[in-house]
Amino acid sequence: MFSRISLFFLGGLVTTVALGSIVIAQTAIDKREALRAYALTHDGNAGSGSCVFVDCGSMVAGQTAGCVTCHSRKANDDGGKLGPSLFGVGSRLTREQIIDQVLSPHKNKNPMGVAVEFKTGRLQSFRLLAESRELLSVRDLDTGERNVLHVAELERYRRTPLMPEGLADKMTPRQFADLVAYLVSLKK
Ligand code: HEC
Repeated sequence: MFSRISLFFLGGLVTTVALGSIVIAQTAIDKREALRAYALTHDGNAGSGSCVFVDCGSMVAGQTAGCVTCHSRKANDDGGKLGPSLFGVGSRLTREQIIDQVLSPHKNKNPMGVAVEFKTGRLQSFRLLAESRELLSVRDLDTGERNVLHVAELERYRRTPLMPEGLADKMTPRQFADLVAYLVSLKK
């Protein structure tokens, strides 16, 4: 009797949690579509966008990191090195490509990471430094240590983006348009 009741509760809990995450996922999708539409039709202010990039980025995104932790944006800048330098990104990418990169980083066609499954079943993602048929040269994302992995000793691996999803989810449409204007202004 008791176990049947707890199973019932457990079932209810699992359903509620599952429904909850579907609702959150759908809200995030709607939010990203709204940001995209706004930024495509509003120019934004590059000066304010620089602030979103540097620290408002981390503030509004809650626990997620600001852009500057992973990206530099001048020729010799002290920004983070995990992501590519955004120096000249306004010449390299169109406004639409920039918007889509920030809203849907998983769609990046040239990701800088590699997700590895070891023969033991352990899963880990690394920054990929170089790749040959036999070897992967990687950097540990936590310790920064360089390492060489032998492909023959891995169960499998695939390239994977390292830029986090949802960085703009807590931005207002104006903050997002400002950020886009700033990135567009980074010309070579
Ligand atoms: C945790 C690190 C990290 C953070 C934080 C981050 N990025 Fe990135 N970003 C990357 C990486 C790594 C790539 C390369 C593609 C990949 O592997 O995801 C990238 C790619 C990009 C690109 C495409 C550059 C190109 O030349 O193709 C743009 C634009 C960009 N990021 C903008 C931003 C903006 C704006 C923010 C802040 C809202 C941000 N990124 C936050 C890691 C990060």
